[in-house]
This record gives sequence, C-alpha cells and structure tokens, in this order.
Amino acid sequence: MAFEMVAVVGLGTMGAGIAEVFARAGLRVIGVEADADALATGRGHVERSTQRAVDRGRLSGGERDAILGRITLTTSREDLREADLVVEAIPEVLDYKRSLFADLDRICKPETVLATNTSSLPVTAIAAATGRQGRVIGMHFFNPAPVMGLVEVVSTVLTDPALVPEISELARRLGKTPVAVGDRAGFVVNRLLLPYLNQAAVLLEQGLARRDDIDAAMRLGVGLPMGPFALLDLIGLDTAYEVMGVLFDETRDRRHAPAPLLRELVSARLLGRKSGRGFHGDEPRPREPDRSTVITFEMAGEGADELTERLRTAGFKPSADPDVILRPADRPVIEHAVRLQDPARLVGVRVVGNRVAELAATVLTSQAAARAARDLMTVIGLTPVACRDRAGFVTDALLYPYLNDAVRMYDTGYASIGDIDAAMRLGCGYPAGPFETLESIGLAVVRDGLRALYAEYREPAYAPAPLLDQLVTAGVHVFPRA
Ligand code: 3HC
Repeated sequence: MAFEMVAVVGLGTMGAGIAEVFARAGLRVIGVEADADALATGRGHVERSTQRAVDRGRLSGGERDAILGRITLTTSREDLREADLVVEAIPEVLDYKRSLFADLDRICKPETVLATNTSSLPVTAIAAATGRQGRVIGMHFFNPAPVMGLVEVVSTVLTDPALVPEISELARRLGKTPVAVGDRAGFVVNRLLLPYLNQAAVLLEQGLARRDDIDAAMRLGVGLPMGPFALLDLIGLDTAYEVMGVLFDETRDRRHAPAPLLRELVSARLLGRKSGRGFHGDEPRPREPDRSTVITFEMAGEGADELTERLRTAGFKPSADPDVILRPADRPVIEHAVRLQDPARLVGVRVVGNRVAELAATVLTSQAAARAARDLMTVIGLTPVACRDRAGFVTDALLYPYLNDAVRMYDTGYASIGDIDAAMRLGCGYPAGPFETLESIGLAVVRDGLRALYAEYREPAYAPAPLLDQLVTAGVHVFPRA
C-alpha cells in the first residue's frame, strides 16, 4: 500500500515528533488534537524542533517551511476519512485508546491502517475494539522521535501478516530501522529499559548513591547517552510510572513494581521536562567543593599499580600514615576494613570505563577519608561516584540485571540477539546492544557479578539466566547467533 496521507492523533511530545518525522519524509500529515489550545501546543512542538534544526544548519528555512506546509491541523476526527494510515499517540489509558480506535474504525476508509504508538498497552486489546483487527498494528517510536532511529513494529495474533513488511518498509522510508516483534508488555526496548530506570530510582531511594552520581556513573562510566534520572525526565515520569505498572501487571515481578519515589513525584506533578521539573530541574547553584589541600594515601590490595602511578604523577605520595586507604575492589570492602587498625580510613575504589571512579564508603568510613578519596580522584581526572559498600556498587548493580534480562528475553524466543542489540542501540542511543556489551565485559565476569548481586540482594531475577550460566560453564565466550 502506498502511504501518502497519514494522520497523527495526539500532538504531545511524541505525537508532534512523529508528525514531524512523516512530514520530513515527504508525506502529507493531518495532526489531530482535542481542542484549539492543544493544537497550538502541538504546532509549537513542531515549530521549535524544526527551527532548532535550522539554527544548527541541518535544515534550510525553505525545507522547514515545506515540512510545516505538509502538516495540517484539525480538531475533527471526521477529517481523517481519506488517511492511508492513522498513528495514535494519546495518553496511555486503554479505555481512551479503545474508544478512539472504535471511532477511527467507523470514520476511516476500510483499507486505512490504524497504528498505535503505545509504550506498553496490549495492541491486541486496542485492535479488538475495531472491526478491522487485521489492519491494526503497533508503531512504537522513541523520544525524541525525530532523532531516535528505531520503530518497533508490533503485530498481534490478529494482524494481517502482510502488513508487517509494509509498515517496516514505511519505517525505512522515514529513515528508521524497523524491528518486528509480538505483542508483549514493553515490547523489546521498554521491557529492558524501564526496569533499569526503575531500579535506579529504587537505589536512589535506598541511599546507595546520589542522583547526580548515579547519572554520572551510567553516562560517563558505562557510556550511555544519558543517566537514568535525566532519561526519566525526558520520557516523562508519568509515562515511566504507567509503563512500570503495565509491566508489573503482566509479570508480577516485584522489580517491575513502580518505585514509590516515582509515584510520589508523579502525584506532585513533577513529571520531568514536560512540566519543567522532575528528578532534575531544581538544582541549587553548584557549590565549589571544599578541597583538602594536602592529601596522603595508601593503596591496599591487588590492582593498585595504575592508580598509584596516576596519583604519583599528580604529585601525591603513598604514606604510612595516610588520610585514606584506597582499596581497588568490585565487591564490598568492609571485610578488608575490619582487619585494619583504623577501618575508618578505608574506601573501596573501582574505575569504570576511563572516566569514573566508584568510591565505596563502608559503614565505618569517616567523612574525612571519603572526602579525601573524592578529591584524589578529581585531581587525577576521574569523576568520583560516591556510593555505599554494596555488591555491584552503582554501575554493575544497574547494568548486570539489564544484561541478564536481555538473555532471558532472547531465551524465551521473543526476539533475536541481533534485533535486541539493534533495538537498544537505535531506540536508546546505547553505544552497544546488551549482547555486545556482555561479550565485551566477558560472560563469566557478568555471571559472577550477578551471583554477587543475588547473594547481596536475594532478588530472584538477579540469579544468572540459565543460558548465561551454561555458556560460561561450557567455556563459550560469545552468544550463538543464527
Ligand atoms: N527534538 C528534535 N531534535 C532533537 C531533540 C528533540 N527533542 N533533542 C535533540 N535533538 C537533536 C539535536 O538537534 C541534534 O541534532 P543534530 O546532530 O542534527 O544537530 C541531536 O539530536 C543531538 O542533540 P544534542 O547535541 O542537543 O544533544 P545530545 O547529543 O546530548 O543528544 C539525545 C540528545 C539524542 C536525546 C541523546 O541524549 C540520546 O540519545 N538520549 C537517549 C534518549 C533515549 O533513550 N530515548 C528513548 C527513551 S524510551 C522511549 O522513548 C519509549 C517510550 O515508550 C517510553
């Protein structure tokens, strides 16, 4: 089918972005909103986004005008009669979506494809509200829609199989990569991404580390484009909360229960970027940290040579009476601390990537030692991430369960390794997909890290996925790709 005239219902952040994507690809777009105010807001989104591209020299003024000229706006659904495709991007409430689809089914010509951009609601339940279940499909875009390169094409058991390649082709025409998946809560990306974001909120609430330290650890240490709290603010805390609720209802996995902190912020209408404030948005003016001028240190344990060298080069010398004893570690260090004469001086240190140093303070570590450790890392060009002395510190505690979830997802047969990797790279801008990451860290390292997390938190889902365990036992270092 030739898709020339498309409609987008709901012009919030996602809907406006999707309308822009279609118009940029040369299609005519009808944008629909409930009232004139909402239409004006939607128009504002597209105007700002295209103006930004003009300002950056990515688009000429003429091209921007042509894009805007291809978008017409209306408050009347009846205007959608002739659309070849309608993409719904209204709030994530199943009853609203079902009633909209019933309406669209009545209004649109019989061959019109009805697509939903739902983040996690069952496409099957939405399709069932229409008399054209074979022509209902999920087209799931990622925020910001004009930038992220993925579209999840979600088919139900009722979808006409011929429609999947047609919509995938359309996604390619939009400059996106399609990944075709079945109708399970969260599809590929949200099923892997949101539990990680939720876990970050849980760990923040438990006081494992501070907001900015967790964001820095994942961005600068792991290399993700944004830290979890900055990303939650981009997605919208209400959306994240809703997706988590849907995931929990389907899986009953307590890790999928929305973090109470999310609920609190949503109730306070602190929804993230769209409301001006969420996890971020109320920063006090950054205060210059007080720096100790002279710091002495001692390095304990194995793997200390490189850090010692860097500290020496920066002018610091190991001392027999140090302010801080740094112990390279990727496991809790309290058992080492208690063997020391002065356990208050011990801080665990782990360099993540080449920009971050996780600094684990035990229950006995003094504030002076923790501060000395932080200042030393800053001086040698590493971003210090202060955290409590828990298995996995910050990065492994957030990264490894996500990798484990990806293995489990593949093992259920829901998606291929190639599709899961591509989905995370293109949908979230990750530098590598989970299987690529697993292989570069080492399957055995991740398996052992998960065992340590399991032993610490006793969380059933942290037990290494049987497939991962078996590959390690078999001495296999890469995943079997078809
Ligand atoms: N609209 C349009 N374009 C935008 C934009 C927006 N809101 N934000 C950024 N851009 C464009 C910029 O214009 C720039 O384009 P250019 O290279 O052509 O000049 C490009 O994106 C890069 O922007 P910046 O240099 O300003 O900023 P960054 O390099 O920091 O990138 C980012 C911003 C693209 C948002 C990047 O941080 C990123 O990839 N973050 C991850 C986002 C993500 O994970 N999204 C998925 C969320 S999950 C989801 O949406 C599913 C839902 O169901 C919950």
